Amino acid sequence: MLGVEKEAPVIQLQNVYRTYQMGDQILNALDGVDINISRNEYVAIVGASGSGKSTMMNIIGCLDRVTKGDYLLNDTNVGDMSEAELAQARNREIGFVFQSFNLLTRASALKNVMQPLVYRGIARSERKRLASEALGHVGLGDRLDSRPNQMSGGQRQRVAIARALIGNPAILLADEPTGNLDSKTSQEIMALIDQLHKKGQTIIMVTHEPDIAAHCARIISLKDGKVESDTRRQNVAA
Ligand SMILES: Nc1ncnc2c1ncn2[C@@H]1O[C@H](COP(=O)(O)OP(=O)(O)O)[C@@H](O)[C@H]1O
Ligand SMILES: [Mg+2]
Repeated sequence: MLGVEKEAPVIQLQNVYRTYQMGDQILNALDGVDINISRNEYVAIVGASGSGKSTMMNIIGCLDRVTKGDYLLNDTNVGDMSEAELAQARNREIGFVFQSFNLLTRASALKNVMQPLVYRGIARSERKRLASEALGHVGLGDRLDSRPNQMSGGQRQRVAIARALIGNPAILLADEPTGNLDSKTSQEIMALIDQLHKKGQTIIMVTHEPDIAAHCARIISLKDGKVESDTRRQNVAA
């Protein structure tokens, strides 16, 4: 057949359940979720506390597995992957950013950002070069030797973003990335994330703040483990 072949979505969740059993109680933290996310999408996952946002992020990030249904990452079924393959997918395909930054507190910004490249067999001098370049891209070219406790919250999150992106992951996953920041610093971090999206990065972000979600072109709202709404917008607040 003629025609341009459409690229498969980078993420496909097909009738996904994540079930917790406590005693004789069964809870579907994800309750039959169907979602496709394509390359270069900018997605917010919103919903009340307990609606399943973190559970969904953990599954997308290969930190957790589905109980039932299928998760395809780059067309590969994550359910068929060994633990080693899962670890490799986490390292190569996913860049994580967390609310609490999760940096190595005793290591310099440069060391923090170099760290994910250790598992890739890249020479130390090259790791250093790439990490200082990445820190330059987030506006911290003059803070390479600072440790996290010598930096502001916004600077720490910039280090975390540089570390998340150092290995060119297919997806940037951020769970409440501005949750620990004041509103001015939050806007600065969102401006940086907006800029990464404009350069082509695929971004999926959990947030409960509407003004943060408003940066995204698509908002998926969860309720009791189900997709309550999935909205794409033409005009996105910058
Ligand atoms: N490890 C766990 N054991 C049992 N229940 C859990 C566990 N993790 C999450 N849950 C439950 O799953 C539901 C969804 O949780 P979560 O994904 O953390 O929600 P959100 O991130 O939207 O606040 C909640 O009812 C929560 O109590
Ligand atoms: Mg959560």
